[in-house]
Amino acid sequence: MGISVTINGQNYDLDVPTDTPLLWVIRDNLKLTGTKFGCGLAQCGACTVHMAGQPIRSCVTPISAVAGQQIQTIEGIESKAATAIQSAWEKLEVPQCGYCQSGQIMAATALLASNASPSDADIDAAMNGNICRCATYVRIKSAIKDAAKQLQDGGSNA
Ligand code: FES
Ligand code: FES
Repeated sequence: MGISVTINGQNYDLDVPTDTPLLWVIRDNLKLTGTKFGCGLAQCGACTVHMAGQPIRSCVTPISAVAGQQIQTIEGIESKAATAIQSAWEKLEVPQCGYCQSGQIMAATALLASNASPSDADIDAAMNGNICRCATYVRIKSAIKDAAKQLQDGGSNA
């Protein structure tokens, strides 16, 4: 039976079992490979995407749970927060191997979209579930602060 989902603004009618993980659909059916498979158990954050702007773990989210919802992947995020995050990531050279980084960016973008001036505690709480085996945590935190500053400095265009 078909399931309708909207991913990065595009509608798809998918003929997959209702319990298929969203991550499988994103990577295997739609060939959007920026979103990564890490643990498959909602423990690492590599598979983070947005549903209605909120970060979710696509590895444990059945496709039936996102029918009719707006899903965004790393390939489709477009917002002032996303631009600021991506530019800060580049400026501070955050990634090492890069494997966890699309999940990190999705989590950080969702944080800044809801809280343009996060405290250290806010950042820790929002990023807590995103694991980086290369331990880029210090640069991630600095980049989130840099992106928040960019948003504040450019706030008149929000
Ligand atoms: S792959 Fe989904 S949280 Fe690790
Ligand atoms: S940059 Fe290598 S796992 Fe995070």
